[in-house]
Amino acid sequence: MNNRIHRDLQSSKGLFQWKESGAGDPLEEVFKRALSRPKIFKNREVMRSDYVPEKLPHRDEHIRSLGEILSPTLRGSRPSNVFIYGKTGTGKTAVVKYVFKRFGEITSKEKLPLKFEYINCRIAGTEYRVLTELCGAIGVKVPFTGLSKAEVFNRLRRGLSEKGYLLVACFDEIDALVKNYGDNLLYELTRINEGFNGSGLSIIGVSNDLHFKDYLDPRVLSSLSEEELVFHPYTAIELIDILSERASEAFYEGAVPQEVINLCAALAAAEHGDARRAIDLLRVAAEVAERNGDEKVEEKHVRLAQNIIERGRVFEALSTLPLHSKLILTSLILLKRGGVGDPISGTVYQAYRELCGLIGVEPLTNRRVSSLISELDMLGVLKSDLVNRGRYGRTRKISLLTPIDEVEEVIRSDELLSTLLNHKLKIDLKRNR
Ligand SMILES: Nc1ncnc2c1ncn2[C@@H]1O[C@H](COP(=O)(O)OP(=O)(O)OP(=O)(O)O)[C@@H](O)[C@H]1O
Ligand SMILES: [Mg+2]
Repeated sequence: MNNRIHRDLQSSKGLFQWKESGAGDPLEEVFKRALSRPKIFKNREVMRSDYVPEKLPHRDEHIRSLGEILSPTLRGSRPSNVFIYGKTGTGKTAVVKYVFKRFGEITSKEKLPLKFEYINCRIAGTEYRVLTELCGAIGVKVPFTGLSKAEVFNRLRRGLSEKGYLLVACFDEIDALVKNYGDNLLYELTRINEGFNGSGLSIIGVSNDLHFKDYLDPRVLSSLSEEELVFHPYTAIELIDILSERASEAFYEGAVPQEVINLCAALAAAEHGDARRAIDLLRVAAEVAERNGDEKVEEKHVRLAQNIIERGRVFEALSTLPLHSKLILTSLILLKRGGVGDPISGTVYQAYRELCGLIGVEPLTNRRVSSLISELDMLGVLKSDLVNRGRYGRTRKISLLTPIDEVEEVIRSDELLSTLLNHKLKIDLKRNR
């Protein structure tokens, strides 16, 4: 026992000396490297996707138009409803938030009976939540649950009329609401002002789904789009200005050379002029450079960032596929492991049935599975080519286009399917050849 204490003391003394002298201390190097590492980010927040910058280059016209449309509020009249649409990353949300912020400032300065409420319908999720947020904006208290929608609607109407507020509400990603619940609520809301004068509700609907209008009843459409604003994709040159503005706030001087900004802008413009994509690319490239301990962001970091983002996208797209499509992908992984790289559709169907049996799921018919395979083909996940097999007739040969490890990652993250990855197929694989 004594011996043991003696030994422990010796070793702790040894450790202490180690720290003092610094020789061989495993953490010393880590600390030194972390502290001396060149800094790239000055303000990381600025590169977050929900950050609304002080300046929005190339959107002056949209800001002005929306401002003009909303300007009657400042004189106590209800403005027209507005419908805003344009592809993803074209600045719709940023412009509305910016205009609301500026109108909010003047409203409080002039003490006007106005309220500006931004609601993201996808995040709010339900009609009830949207209604309670509208009530909250004018100070009408409603419980989170428990009332009927009609009751909350009535409280909103009463609140607007009694308090005399003019409420301008932005329904961002409005398509999420309409696709889940139809357009009844919008119909009711566009009619809520009947009998009010001065007070009431104006709606700004925002969507990146260019077919959204098809979902609307013509009466709702005509009142929602009394005014319309279209946001066009940015050009590469415009994206350079947007990125330069951000970069000057987000990064230390010299950390992000102009060529890198130009490259990110060009890559994002080549897709469809999406500012979010351009900003993400630059942020991830800077993170890669920082992790490597490099002083500057370079082209190679942007290329790596592109891969990381692309991988993230594939993961997201595949994770949301329905169960049976994922089972088909799992079959393809197991077939490939069994040495059948490009199986014919019959073999895929057999493997698929085997997997359904293992997890106790009723298999779909061959025909349904073929149509799921065609969908995966359209998504670019796999390729299904018609081949002639002489006296066996024609069939389809299926090859995965997405790297197999990326598909595996998705299946591994699925609680139900992950165990299947350890399975060895029992079907006769030789018959495929
Ligand atoms: N003109 C601009 N100046 C500076 N930043 C911008 C500009 N336009 C967009 N951004 C930035 O790009 C990102 C995407 O913009 P935003 O969220 O407004 O796009 P969106 O049109 O609402 O896209 P979605 O349809 O996907 O919701 C945000 O971080 C936003 O701050
Ligand atoms: Mg948006």
